[in-house]
Amino acid sequence: MIDQLTIEKILDAANIVDVVSEFVTLRRRGVNYVGLCPFHNEKTPSFYVSPSKGICKCFSCGKGGNVIHFLMEHEQMSFQDAAEWLANKYGIPFRKRELTDSEKALQNERDSMFITNQFALDFFKDTLLNTDKGRAIGLAYFRKRGFRDDILDKFFLGYSPDEPDALARAALAKGYTRENLIKTGLCYERENDGQLRDRFHGRVIFPVHSIAGKVVAFGGRIMSSDAKVAKYVNSPESIIYSKRRELYGLYQAKQAIVRKDRCFLVEGYADVISMFQSGVENVVASSGTSLTEDQIRLIHRFTNNITVLYDGDRAGIKASLRGIDMLLAEGMNVKVLLLPDGEDPDSFAQGRGATAFQQYIDTHQVDFIRFKVNLLMEDASDDPYSRSELIKSITQSISVIQDPIVRSVYITECSQIMKIDERLLINDVNRRQREQSQAVPQPAQPSAPEPEKTTSPEPAESPESTDEKAPDPQLSPEDKLRQDIRALKRDGLGPMMDKERLLSQLIVRYGGKVMCTYQNDEGQEQDMTVGQFIVGSLQNDGLEFRHPVYKRFVEIMAEHLEEKNFNTKKFFLSHPETFVSLTAASLMEERYQLSKLFKDNMPTDDEAHLLKLTRHTMADYQMEVVRLEIKKTEKEIQEATVENLSELQIRYQQLLQARSELSKTLGDRIITL
Ligand code: CTP
Ligand code: MN
Repeated sequence: MIDQLTIEKILDAANIVDVVSEFVTLRRRGVNYVGLCPFHNEKTPSFYVSPSKGICKCFSCGKGGNVIHFLMEHEQMSFQDAAEWLANKYGIPFRKRELTDSEKALQNERDSMFITNQFALDFFKDTLLNTDKGRAIGLAYFRKRGFRDDILDKFFLGYSPDEPDALARAALAKGYTRENLIKTGLCYERENDGQLRDRFHGRVIFPVHSIAGKVVAFGGRIMSSDAKVAKYVNSPESIIYSKRRELYGLYQAKQAIVRKDRCFLVEGYADVISMFQSGVENVVASSGTSLTEDQIRLIHRFTNNITVLYDGDRAGIKASLRGIDMLLAEGMNVKVLLLPDGEDPDSFAQGRGATAFQQYIDTHQVDFIRFKVNLLMEDASDDPYSRSELIKSITQSISVIQDPIVRSVYITECSQIMKIDERLLINDVNRRQREQSQAVPQPAQPSAPEPEKTTSPEPAESPESTDEKAPDPQLSPEDKLRQDIRALKRDGLGPMMDKERLLSQLIVRYGGKVMCTYQNDEGQEQDMTVGQFIVGSLQNDGLEFRHPVYKRFVEIMAEHLEEKNFNTKKFFLSHPETFVSLTAASLMEERYQLSKLFKDNMPTDDEAHLLKLTRHTMADYQMEVVRLEIKKTEKEIQEATVENLSELQIRYQQLLQARSELSKTLGDRIITL
């Protein structure tokens, strides 16, 4: 647990542009920065980062918050972990209290899997570098492949000992649980006796990292050339690993991708490492599956430009053309680099320096559409059928391109290469575009699993392990809260919660600010803050907010009423209750909410203005309370008995009276402003 004071320090030190840039490429726009939203799929940027306010927000999907929230959402970290991550990044000292046993038990499932994976990574690395067998087998293998020591380090390569349960024993001895060893896929239970077996034993290890550097999975390569056993074994899918959503090497490559504004895409672990070693660092691998939309999206966050590397195998190239149409549809500029026959990126990079490689790239990478036309032209005979198939395939690729200028350039060029009337191509592209825009948007459906490059039989003892976990039927506290709020809205309390929101906004922004002075009981002049006024009014009327989060705002404010210069913004934004700080962030963001009632250009820190604003907003809220009470009382009167009728009628009169007074207050103010 990091205490709140340290969290405030962390938030002060953290630069949100800096942090978000580790995950998305941002461009300056006025005082803000924009980029492609990392939380949903989009082609044009709607994710805004405001360095002055320290918050970010997607104007399309609504996700965002301060740096901590960003990390929590993006990395699925807990509040504490996100704070710790930032403290480490900015070198802010913090003391971590040891977790109690019950806290340990509660420690989130994903976290404990990450911790287990991290242990395994260290174990594999240590085995590779510091044991005789590791050096004799694993290290010798990597050396033979030409991997330098600094590269072994950079990619955290390792070796899993040959004994079939070495990792299991070491992990259990250190207190890692059997359950987590199985959930991460590091181990599995042997069928006949349930004994733990290491999935990767006897293999060299390629860890797979998330963008933020967490170990989500491992790939293990066999040492022997035994054709009966799969060359590579990978971690099974789990709640922390989905093969379709990760790119091998992105963690190491992301800075170079931004710097070069281009990403090279290859197939395998060795390809990435060899290219990186030769100096081409902006390279990632789809790990043997065909590219998925999620992977494209990951790349697109950092750059618009991608170059797909192919070895000389024609059949392989044709099979992957469709994946490239997906890249075009995402609005990326796609180039293709064909390697000489018999070479793959790994072999090609080995023995070539960065300059030689770069030179080859510069002279040989070609635009994808041109590449495709030429490739298909080679086999297309003159017979009308195969020619029309060729045209269809090309117009399909062109029609997914969003930019009309780019489209028309391609059409002209293709019509020349293929010797086809340009108008014919234009018509066909237009027709396809109409079809695509009319196509009913598909509901997000679980797409079919990617075909593995090789049907990889798991090691003989391994169980079927790739099934994804069923969703947890239990509601998280967050979901529960959302559910409660939805229920309130269903009960017609939506307008009421809107008013509560405006008051909460005042609390977050100006809670500690003085808005007027008053005479206390002893006749002395005293300052009244916005927070004191709101909390005091509610207490006087015996009112409580209905919205659970806004209610917390009032409670927290009440605890700090007497604090001089209480910095509400800072306090709420760094509050460890996620819902409080997240809501505070969004209340900070809504710039014009409050001023709608008032003139936009009024300086809001001005005391007189704050006073009017707060009074008005409070009256507005009270009006809504009275309105609901009146409705309720009318209903009660209809069902009244002789005994309580007169009592209800008195109450009704009082309410009507209150309403007319409030409307005067509200009306007056509106007119005078
Ligand atoms: N792959 C896999 N499982 C397999 C085979 C391949 O996951 N059984 C993935 C790996 O990520 C591998 C990539 O597909 O790196 C490319 O496969 P391949 O070309 O067969 O391997 P290389 O990368 O050339 O591996 P190496 O050079 O080590 O032989
Ligand atoms: Mn290879």
